[in-house]
Amino acid sequence: MSSNKKILVLPGDGIGTEVMSEVLNIMEWMSKNKSVSFDVSERLVGGAAFDREGNSISDATMQEALDSDAVLLGAVGGPQWDSVERDKRPEAALLRLRKEMDLFANLRPAIVFDALANSSSLKAELIKGLNILILRELTSGVYYGLPRGVEKIKDQEEKAIDTQSYTTSEIERIGKVGFDLAKKRSNKVTSVEKANVMETGMFWRKIITSLHKREFNDVELNHMYADNCAMQLVRYPKQFDVIVTDNLFGDILSDCAAMLTGSLGMLPSASLGSVDVSGKRPGMYEPVHGSAPDIAGQNKANPLAMIMSFAMMLRYSFDMLEDSTLIEKAVQNVLSKGLRTLDIKQDNEKAVSTKEMGAAVIEELNIVSGK
Ligand code: IPM
Ligand code: MG
Repeated sequence: MSSNKKILVLPGDGIGTEVMSEVLNIMEWMSKNKSVSFDVSERLVGGAAFDREGNSISDATMQEALDSDAVLLGAVGGPQWDSVERDKRPEAALLRLRKEMDLFANLRPAIVFDALANSSSLKAELIKGLNILILRELTSGVYYGLPRGVEKIKDQEEKAIDTQSYTTSEIERIGKVGFDLAKKRSNKVTSVEKANVMETGMFWRKIITSLHKREFNDVELNHMYADNCAMQLVRYPKQFDVIVTDNLFGDILSDCAAMLTGSLGMLPSASLGSVDVSGKRPGMYEPVHGSAPDIAGQNKANPLAMIMSFAMMLRYSFDMLEDSTLIEKAVQNVLSKGLRTLDIKQDNEKAVSTKEMGAAVIEELNIVSGK
């Protein structure tokens, strides 16, 4: 059956392949039970691609990503590729996908499921009901700024350089996404930078302030320094709704926010570009957790972040809100029934495997959809 939902599946390395296979089962369930067909192709990425194809992402795979309606990615990386040169490392594939697909808006929701309120390292009352969104700028800043490299200054003395830079339009477009998202949530944006120290921080604050004045003055806006934000996230996280920040601070603060929810294994993400003339918006969806080499291949990984990344794909790339909600509901129910993978279980609880968790979600999909 042909389909207008062309998905490129990139399982990648480590637990990426294991958690992805649970999503493929859900896609199969959907085509059987919901008559939704996906046109799925699968390719190598990361270390797996480096080993077989000589680079962490081949030009053909990159082209296929650009031609698809959405990309679903597992995880990349592992210690066996630590000594590979930087532009061929597994992480370079991620950075290339983000840049060439122009996925400037990275949505990292941190939601605490009631059933997991005790898994967080913070007291349950601080995080119960938490629902915040870190919006990270993903295609600029110090991750891509030039010049960069290591140069020789004199004998025995070298200098390493990274460059942090942001333009007006780069800040405006991420700011707009942040304000628009906040309007559909609790209408509050916290813009995070280091305006007290950095040129880019001062500039970021100025651009966000004038954008707010011009187009979004009905949204509550606060500014916060990144170090204070890290502290506030663990002190009183419920003060936040949408946090909008640059590439590097977003990387750091999203790991911090993730842990509030109890486990990195619970967090999905969406990376989005802008809508083009044909109405298409490029999107890549991936769990926030990495490839977890320590538990890879052992059927222990938590597939829920990957499954919820797929739910985000349905929502943001295909406007399938009902199906997206159905999957989120199934995940919630499975957790309420007490199923726990290793990463979210308490000491006295028994852990289920990756496959058992995946099967439980499908079982629950049958129940919630009345099949
Ligand atoms: C992330 C990761 C990546 C990043 C790495 C793997 C390149 O930490 O997506 O947060 O730094 O962006
Ligand atoms: Mg990170």
